[in-house]
Amino acid sequence: MCGIVGYIGTKKAVPVLINGLLSLEYRGYDSAGLAVLNNDNSLKIVKDMGRVKKLQDNSELESLTGSIGIAHTRWATRGMPSKINSHPHTDNNNTFTVVHNGIIENYDELKSFIEKKGYALHSETDTELIPNLIHYFYNKNTKKGVLFAVTEALKKLEGSYALEITSPLLKDEIIVVKKDSPVVIGVGKNENYIASDIPAILSYTKDFYFMEDYEIAEVKKDSITFYNYDLNIIEKEIKNIEWDAIASEKNGYDDYMLKEIYEQPTAIRETIGTSFNKEGNINLPLNSLDVNKYNKIYIVACGTAMHAGIATKYIFEKFTQIPCEVDMASEFRYRNPLINEKTLCIFISQSGETADTIAALKLAKKSGSTTLSIVNVIGSSITRISDFVLYTHAGPEIAVASTKAYTCQVTLLTILALFISEKLGLSNTADFEKLKNDLNQLPDKIKYILDNCDKVKNIANQIYQDKNMFFIGRINDYAVAMEGSLKVKEITYIHSEAYAAGELKHGPIALIEDGVSVIGIITNPSISSKTLSNLDEVVTRGANIILISNQDIDINSSNINEESIVKIPDCSSLISPVLSVIPLQLLAYHIAKCKKLDVDKPRNLAKSVTVE
Ligand code: F6R
Repeated sequence: MCGIVGYIGTKKAVPVLINGLLSLEYRGYDSAGLAVLNNDNSLKIVKDMGRVKKLQDNSELESLTGSIGIAHTRWATRGMPSKINSHPHTDNNNTFTVVHNGIIENYDELKSFIEKKGYALHSETDTELIPNLIHYFYNKNTKKGVLFAVTEALKKLEGSYALEITSPLLKDEIIVVKKDSPVVIGVGKNENYIASDIPAILSYTKDFYFMEDYEIAEVKKDSITFYNYDLNIIEKEIKNIEWDAIASEKNGYDDYMLKEIYEQPTAIRETIGTSFNKEGNINLPLNSLDVNKYNKIYIVACGTAMHAGIATKYIFEKFTQIPCEVDMASEFRYRNPLINEKTLCIFISQSGETADTIAALKLAKKSGSTTLSIVNVIGSSITRISDFVLYTHAGPEIAVASTKAYTCQVTLLTILALFISEKLGLSNTADFEKLKNDLNQLPDKIKYILDNCDKVKNIANQIYQDKNMFFIGRINDYAVAMEGSLKVKEITYIHSEAYAAGELKHGPIALIEDGVSVIGIITNPSISSKTLSNLDEVVTRGANIILISNQDIDINSSNINEESIVKIPDCSSLISPVLSVIPLQLLAYHIAKCKKLDVDKPRNLAKSVTVE
């Protein structure tokens, strides 16, 4: 999704802006641009389609010497990727210049409004409306000043926006606005920074203001003043972020994704460590959660985060005895779900900024349900809206394809289920103790898989030219099949499908022919023979089988070749998704490398999906 960066201070703005844009590249984009207010008060814009590197090499940047600047990476929504559609955008008189992350929903109405007032739009973007609206309101009542004109323009906008506004009229400030799109302000000494998210400016400061919806900031180099839309001043607190800037760099790995895969033992150890006390008891900051009042649990999220929900639904049901449903946020928000004050709605999000998840969360709050969110990014929008928040301690996840956030989410959801179970007085069972013990062994077992994964690389070498793949499993092995299949789709561009193993013969088996790879996941001894039979059914139709399992598979009777079996350490089948997903993450990674693809920035994808 679009990324924004801003700088105001004493240094040259361009290097800071370019660095920030480079750090935001993982969000996904198709064009990049920036605007700098030079010391002679002239505003210069350089922008184009393509990578930030191309912008960085543009010789026009040499004339941008000022210390106030705004920058943007665009992920096209309204209007194709093109130079003219790239940000920044200015009004017809070149007075106000704007970068925007979000979507203006009442575009048609505002377009005809502004055109009737004599303004012409040159790009296909919705963003171009904004500087023109500001100009219109400024001209109408110049005495009231720019900030007033901005609020008048904002009152007309419907949709989502994080905006940076600069102008020769604003000699020593940048105006920042937020509604439904993320933006943070980093505080420095005699300089301040603006960005869509923390990693972009983490190397400059660890002190941040998190802007809330309907807030405006007047950012000068030595002060930041926050206002509401009525221009009343708001007091806000600076938050210190402990993330290490180095932790968000590659640290010797070829790609962020590989680094993040290898960080999983540490990330999970941290997530577990912060959820248990010294005595080994679960200790979550949920004292006022009244677990006795719920008759339904909903887990709501998107993509990989939703897969973490599916993988743990069974744990919630088994240990809390409360029915648990998992839903995609994009569906949940529009389907009038049956939720009320007796429903516990759990939202999962790495970024804490996913537009659909935020909308679903707001809906749940409105219905009187309790909202509890599992989030990785501290201070993100979801954490500020939810009744309760638990943090995964995955650290910054930069690669677009989520890996360590997923395993931390599954781990933390499991701990949450056990916490509720304990509070309900249902924990006095051997299964409860076993799961608790197994949780603590996860980091070492993941490390074992990572240290012994040559087989996965070999398999990737053999199948990387495939056109189709199937992932199958039952119960939570099916949840992992979905996640493995998603990883393959995202970064290898191979078409892949995940099926509950028993469903294959109800249709999709028609697609199995010589050489189609079918990846089976088997971690539950009570049903392993069932999935094995399903694999035998596809072997006889020519499929090439790859098996991820913690069981001793009898190769002779199952027609599966030893080289295609990736053995993972044993653990309770309930928590096995944290282990069985690791070879699948690596498989997708190595296939993408064989195909020489950019694993960290797959085409069309964005890290933070901040539009609907
Ligand atoms: C896939 C992936 C996405 C995200 C989804 C939700 O690898 O990363 O499917 O899981 O966009 O994002 P968050 O967790 O930030 O809400």
